[in-house]
Amino acid sequence: MPDNNVRIRLASPDFGEEEVDAVRRVLCSGVLTNGAENAAFGQEFADRHQARFGVTFCTGTTALQAMLLAEGIGPGDEVIVPSMTFVATATSVCHVGATPVFADIDPRTFNLDPVSVEARITPSTRAVMTVHYAGQPGDLDGLARVCDAAGLPLLEDAAQAAGAEYRGRPVGTFGRSAMFSFTPTKNITTGEGGIVLTDDPDLVERLQLLRNHGQTGLYQHESLGYNWRLTEMQAAIGRVQLRKLDVILQRKQLIAESLTQRLVGLPGLTTPYQVPVARGSRMLYTCLLPGIRDQVLADLLDQGIEARIYFPPVHRQPIFARREGGTRDPAALPVTESVASAMLSLPVHHQLTAAEVAEIADAVTGAVGRSTMSTHARPTPIGAR
Ligand SMILES: Cc1ncc(COP(=O)(O)O)c(C=O)c1O
Repeated sequence: MPDNNVRIRLASPDFGEEEVDAVRRVLCSGVLTNGAENAAFGQEFADRHQARFGVTFCTGTTALQAMLLAEGIGPGDEVIVPSMTFVATATSVCHVGATPVFADIDPRTFNLDPVSVEARITPSTRAVMTVHYAGQPGDLDGLARVCDAAGLPLLEDAAQAAGAEYRGRPVGTFGRSAMFSFTPTKNITTGEGGIVLTDDPDLVERLQLLRNHGQTGLYQHESLGYNWRLTEMQAAIGRVQLRKLDVILQRKQLIAESLTQRLVGLPGLTTPYQVPVARGSRMLYTCLLPGIRDQVLADLLDQGIEARIYFPPVHRQPIFARREGGTRDPAALPVTESVASAMLSLPVHHQLTAAEVAEIADAVTGAVGRSTMSTHARPTPIGAR
C-alpha cells in the first residue's frame, strides 16, 4: 500500500524512454511470449555473471521451485536454508513437497553459518540453499567445504545479488544453479521476474521443460511442467535494465559509503559489515540497533523515511510455526533471533540525492538519540551466545 507520508522511499525503479521503446518494439512485433527477447535476456544475464546458461522465469519464486525440481528434490527430502530471508526461500522447498530445515547465520553478514549448516545435515538432506543477504555473499568457501564433504549441491538464492562478486567472481556461479529476482525492490527490475543461471546443460533442459508445460514440440508434453514463462515485454525491459546494472551498483556503493561515514560510531547503532573478499550489490543497507530498533523505526516513519525490517525470520512465520521439520528446534537459531530483533534497513536506492542521503543520516542520528534517551536502553551485543 503506498503511504502518502513517505518522502524518501526504500526503493526506486529506474525506468525511462529506453524501457518504453523496448516494450513498444515487442508489442509491435506481435511475439509476446516464448520468443527471442527471453532467449537474449537469459544469455545476456548469464554472460554478465560469467555463467554458461540463463533460463528466465515469471518470478523468482517459480525459478526457485524449478531449481529444486530440476535437482529431483521432492517428498521426504530436506533442504537446508537460512531463516533470515524472504519467505519464498523456504516455501519453494515446501512447494516441491520437501522440508526446509533452518540453519543459523553469521552475526555480521546475516548469511548461513557453515558450522550450523553442517550440524543440520541428516541422511535426508538433499541440498543447501544459501541466500546472499542484501546482495552480499557470506562464507562461500566454508559452505563449499561443507557441501563437498557431504556430497551435497550448493544452490544459490541470489535474488538480491545481481552483479555481486566473491573473490572477484560473480555470484550465481558458486552453486550448481542460482536464482535472481527482478521485483521492483531489486537493483534491476522487470516488475516481476526471475532467472536461473547454471553451467549444466542437462539442468537447462529440465528447467526449460518445467517452465513450459514439459513441451518438447507443439502440443507434445513429455513431462509434468508448468506455465512459468516471463513475457517478451518483461524480457525486453530486463535487457535494458541489465545495461544499467553497473552504474546502479556504483552509485549505490557510493551512497552506502556516505551513509556509513555519517553513521559509524553512533552509540547504539552498528553499520553494515563489509565482507573483505566480496563486492555486494547493496540491495539493502541494514543496521543493527539492539534494544531501540522499534522506536527508531517508528520515528523514521514519522519523519517520512521508509525504513523497514528485512526480514522477520521465516521460522517464526505462522506457516512454519505450525509445520513439522523446519521448526523442530527454533531455539537452535540464537543468532537469527538476536539479529532479527535488532535489524533495520534504510533507503539506499541509486536515485537518492546527496541532500537525501544527509537527511536520512540526520534523521537516524536524531531518532537514535531520542530512543536511547527515552528507553535508557543498554545495547546488547549481537550474536552473543
Ligand atoms: C531472498 C529472496 N528469495 C526469494 C525471493 C522471491 O523472489 P520473487 O519475489 O521474484 O518471487 C525474494 C524476493 O524478494 C528474495 O528476496
